[in-house]
Amino acid sequence: MIAVTGASGKLGHWVIQHLLKKVPASQIVAIVRNPAKAEDLKKLGVSVRKGDYDQADSWSQALEGISRLLLISSSEVGKRHTQHETVIQAAKKAQVRHIAYTSILKADVSSLILAKEHLATEQSLRQSGIPFTLLRNGWYLENHTENLAPALEYGAIHGAAKDGKFSSASRSDFAQAAATVLTSEGHENKVYELAGDTSFTLSELADAVSKKANKSVSYQDHSFEDFKKILMQVGLPEGFAAILADSDVGASKGELHSDSKDLSKLINRPTTPLAEALQAAIK
Ligand SMILES: NC(=O)c1ccc[n+]([C@@H]2O[C@H](COP(=O)([O-])OP(=O)(O)OC[C@H]3O[C@@H](n4cnc5c(N)ncnc54)[C@H](OP(=O)(O)O)[C@@H]3O)[C@@H](O)[C@H]2O)c1
Repeated sequence: MIAVTGASGKLGHWVIQHLLKKVPASQIVAIVRNPAKAEDLKKLGVSVRKGDYDQADSWSQALEGISRLLLISSSEVGKRHTQHETVIQAAKKAQVRHIAYTSILKADVSSLILAKEHLATEQSLRQSGIPFTLLRNGWYLENHTENLAPALEYGAIHGAAKDGKFSSASRSDFAQAAATVLTSEGHENKVYELAGDTSFTLSELADAVSKKANKSVSYQDHSFEDFKKILMQVGLPEGFAAILADSDVGASKGELHSDSKDLSKLINRPTTPLAEALQAAIK
């Protein structure tokens, strides 16, 4: 049996979709913290079990009979390493044979604030003795394309990435790679740097948005502090604004860029191009 944690999230949904193309629904378990949010997954025929990263006692039942597990990193920055450790320890007790974990691009050398908890989780996995696969995911294309309404209204994309390149790929691309690792052999104790085949700067993103929307959109670069303030002005909490601004500063140093072709090799096709993601986002 194959299980996916955080299955009610956006990436989790994509992973379940891709798993269903490879194995029968009866072999798939979607682990979610709130089963009421997983009615759509139940309708696909997969089993739904409760597993909350904050409730250690929820995991023995959640992981019963599971041989392969995808641990999707928690969305609660600051609590993540402890939460992931809870799942890893439970997986050890449940004799899970293989854990794949959604980490971050270049986790071992990245200066991004976000990388710290991912690296700590990678270390916990190595220490657990459970065979693992590190899926070091780059940025989602959707981070660039999901919230374009203000950019289109005001004609500007704001950031702090200077001319740093993003090798972003779609959630579906990353999910398909995870499904491949969960359903095929030879991935144990491997580290995959997962990045899009092509890369772009935020100026190039603005140009592509302009072209697609037939409207002038330019990229405006800011300092960390100024970009953080802009993000707070549009309603983001300070902590989250700081993380996003820090990630852009990291991108300016190349932390979200990679020439690795691990992703297209795992999914056996080119990764989703920016133009295709914009096509879906701008109607
Ligand atoms: N590579 C990137 O660009 C990027 C961008 C954003 C995030 N991420 C990371 O990738 C992960 C997956 O991305 P996503 O787009 O699928 O995010 P998402 O839609 O926010 O999904 C996060 C999932 O984590 C679950 N979760 C949060 N706290 C939990 C807890 N205490 N116990 C059990 N489950 C918990 C959520 O459950 P509920 O449905 O109940 O809330 C949800 O299923 C994120 O959590 C984050 O670590 C990566």
